[in-house]
Amino acid sequence: MADAPTADPVYQTDALIAEDIEAYLDTHQNKTMLRFITCGSVDDGKSTLIGRLLYDSKMIFEDQLAALENDSKRVGTQGQEIDFALLVDGLAAEREQGITIDVAYRFFATEKRKFIVADCPGHEQYTRNMVTGASTADLAVILIDARKGVLVQTRRHSFLCHQLGIRNIVLAVNKMDLIDYDQARFDAIVAEYSAFAQEIGIENFVAMPISGIKGDNITGKSANTPWYDGPPLVEHLETVEINATRALEQPFRMPVQWVNRPNLDFRGFSGLVSTGSIKPGDAVRVLPSGRTSTVKSIVTFDGEQEEAQAGQSVTITLADEIDCSRGNVLAAADAPPQVSDQFEATVVWMDDDALVPGRGYWLKLASQMVSATVAEPKYEINVNTMDHLAAKTLELNSIGVAEVTTDKPLVFEPYAENRALGGFILVDKITNHTVGAGMLHFSLRRAQNVHWQPTTVSREDHANLKNQKPLVLWFTGLSGSGKSTIANEVEQGLARMNRHTFLLDGDNVRHGLNKDLGFTEADRIENIRRIGEVAKLMADAGLIVLTAFISPFRAERQMVRDMLPDGEFIEVFVDTPLEVAEARDVKGLYKKAREGQLKNFTGIDSPYEAPENPDITVNTVEMSPSEAADHIIRKIISLI
Ligand code: ADX
Repeated sequence: MADAPTADPVYQTDALIAEDIEAYLDTHQNKTMLRFITCGSVDDGKSTLIGRLLYDSKMIFEDQLAALENDSKRVGTQGQEIDFALLVDGLAAEREQGITIDVAYRFFATEKRKFIVADCPGHEQYTRNMVTGASTADLAVILIDARKGVLVQTRRHSFLCHQLGIRNIVLAVNKMDLIDYDQARFDAIVAEYSAFAQEIGIENFVAMPISGIKGDNITGKSANTPWYDGPPLVEHLETVEINATRALEQPFRMPVQWVNRPNLDFRGFSGLVSTGSIKPGDAVRVLPSGRTSTVKSIVTFDGEQEEAQAGQSVTITLADEIDCSRGNVLAAADAPPQVSDQFEATVVWMDDDALVPGRGYWLKLASQMVSATVAEPKYEINVNTMDHLAAKTLELNSIGVAEVTTDKPLVFEPYAENRALGGFILVDKITNHTVGAGMLHFSLRRAQNVHWQPTTVSREDHANLKNQKPLVLWFTGLSGSGKSTIANEVEQGLARMNRHTFLLDGDNVRHGLNKDLGFTEADRIENIRRIGEVAKLMADAGLIVLTAFISPFRAERQMVRDMLPDGEFIEVFVDTPLEVAEARDVKGLYKKAREGQLKNFTGIDSPYEAPENPDITVNTVEMSPSEAADHIIRKIISLI
């Protein structure tokens, strides 16, 4: 939470009662909405400025939000509900994801417009808060203390706002009263900011001399600055062109949230129109498949409609029965968005645990959810100096540029053109936390020009010819736990049963396919990624695949599971305690590791994450290798 303002105007604290809120929403429901963000620290007078804006406009306070929430259910008309959703959506989504974002959203309105202001703390360690607030804002008010001029934080805030696609920037030079409304000082600050803005690609901004405390140039023109001929802040906020207007001019796009099929006679596609507009009879294309049809009808809460526009939630029915499901995008047939699975993107890291390049994360973009990996960053950006730094990873609150690869094609547009189809979040597959946010720049050409080649002899044909069902038996456990020995016994047993198998073994594969890889976290992840791909190809060829790799990380084992059809990945935990494996020390490697001659050795100075729910566990203290093999074969025999 931002601090309460310490000076006048004071926060009005007596609660607005429910009826007042109802009346309030009634009055304002037909006004346009501007979402903006204020950047600066408490010292710059941010809270005072916000306090004044709210005070002068008889705002709804943030602590009335709970009341508003209960009330909006009772209020009931659609427009009002949408207002409310807009007010809290950013926050709610993040809360569900288990991440604490310190952004206070406040709501107020004037005669001409409604406003949602995201108030974000200004400190460097709060990059993720600023990014959250800025990602939905149309405009940013960058506050400067007139006595201090352009500071490092001014540059950081401006840079992030620009990165997040905010094209309306107000440079509010505050506390003008403390420098006697000195025009020369104001001009100097504007000139300095102007030079910096140009450097980072901000094409224009509006500078204003204000005083939050005294009210100069806030709601009305100030007599103290006769030399300033621009509008006061509120007038500018009321009249500036908002994204919604621009969104209307772009081609039609609607990410499909769900397929509405109440009965066999009706099949509609529901979602929020992100850009453009659409009418019955218009030609549309379903992405990523590329199939086309025409719009038959547009249905909303209030019945059929003649048109749907950006910002509206609608259900669209099509003239043809074509495949379209959640995550697909309906678009203007002659101006579709792009489809790709490899991108360059800016990534902002928001989690305490650093990015692990090569690891699979869930990537959510509009209504699409795919598995994605982020490569080692091309560079990290120092948000204070804008310098590009070499980086192996991204830590909490850092921002970098990296290649992102997805396991399925994504329908997208560059973030700079369309936030809805260019902005994404990354979610950890194990903890389910939002760990990053990103902005797609462009598709990497190599993905665009590589197409999937359909083959005629199918996966099923391959398996049928071998008279078996494919399966991947994934052995995991410490070095020296007995993975290879047991896997070898299992393979022999299966061979005796005329099953077609292949055993991929860590030490062997590291002599060939993976001889370029060592034992760092990143190399182990790449090791498992490649083995996963090979195992998948072999399963496609109809084989029963056995793999014996330490595969120390849950996330990568899950990644391989996700690559295969349901039920075809069987995780076999070779459960040998470290003391036992170390006492056996078949290859003498534990000894070396203890003596410090072998770095990153699993169990010693590199972690092993035991499976939480393995499909099969074998305890090698209690079972001999052949008993373990028998146990495994008995468990899988009905599957193959
Ligand atoms: S994994 O972690 O990437 O899955 P993998 O199973 O391929 O490992 O290779 C493990 C084998 O490499 C071990 O059984 C051992 O013989 C050898 N090895 C060499 N150095 C290491 C190390 N630092 N940590 C673990 N195993 C190592």
